[in-house]
Amino acid sequence: MSSTPALVELNGVSKVYRSLQGSDYVAVRDFSLDIPAGEFFCLLGTSGCGKTTVLNMVAGFEATSSGTIAVAGKPVTRPDADRGVVFQGDDSLYGWLSALGNIEFGLRMRGIAKAERERKARHYLELVGLKGQDHKHPAELSGGMKQRIQIARALANEPQMLLMDEPFAALDAHTRADMQRELKRICRETGRTVLFITHDIDEAIILADRIGVMHAGPASKLKGTVAVTLTPEERERTHDKFTAVYREVHGLIRDEVAISLKRAH
Ligand SMILES: Nc1ncnc2c1ncn2[C@@H]1O[C@H](COP(=O)(O)OP(=O)(O)OP(=O)(O)O)[C@@H](O)[C@H]1O
Ligand SMILES: [Mg+2]
Repeated sequence: MSSTPALVELNGVSKVYRSLQGSDYVAVRDFSLDIPAGEFFCLLGTSGCGKTTVLNMVAGFEATSSGTIAVAGKPVTRPDADRGVVFQGDDSLYGWLSALGNIEFGLRMRGIAKAERERKARHYLELVGLKGQDHKHPAELSGGMKQRIQIARALANEPQMLLMDEPFAALDAHTRADMQRELKRICRETGRTVLFITHDIDEAIILADRIGVMHAGPASKLKGTVAVTLTPEERERTHDKFTAVYREVHGLIRDEVAISLKRAH
């Protein structure tokens, strides 16, 4: 009897960045992870440990140097509309399109009729708190606003899976809390599978079904995972169960921060 395969399967994945001048850099080595369909997986790790590298390989933007990545049983060879990506930073919007135009771009590419794609785009624009900003172009928007449009654009495409690289890092605390709540609600309601990168342990505990912590680089891989089985009420920073998960995750990451700092000097 075969068990249902995970939606995302990374098997012994390595990534070597070739350098023309100096020596090659092994960012990730022998990284393995299965993400079941519907899981919200948060990936944590020190700066430069290889989180974005992993996400880019799952997205199909970067090839693996060895090992395999499959989504829904099919090897990843290139980007696909089934995997919606929210990039780190906010520089991926189309400068010549309005906020609304950016959000509905993918829907237009898929041939969705004008009225329907505008309705969807407005819905997600409102969801990220930017109602009334539909006509503005990226150059007229703040960093946090651009980031929220990226998120709306990814959600509007309704992909099977979301790949999000520190999507809330540029937002103020209040907007950030709102966005966390909304993302969690959307994922619960639609059963989306999410690979979400963050530096913030609190954010990971608020959002995740499972948290993975990476070793410090180079040649990084997963150090351990922590299942987060808290109820919405328990996902409050002051709750005892929240603090217990925090301690467990912090215990995994603490030594890696020290290693990473030592290697940087
Ligand atoms: N295109 C590239 N060419 C060469 N080296 C790269 C390239 N992209 C990333 N690296 C290196 O690979 C390592 C991992 O980078 P990556 O961006 O995946 O880290 P990260 O965990 O996302 O860090 P941060 O938390 O700062 O975003 C770093 O040492 C980085 O310098
Ligand atoms: Mg990164």
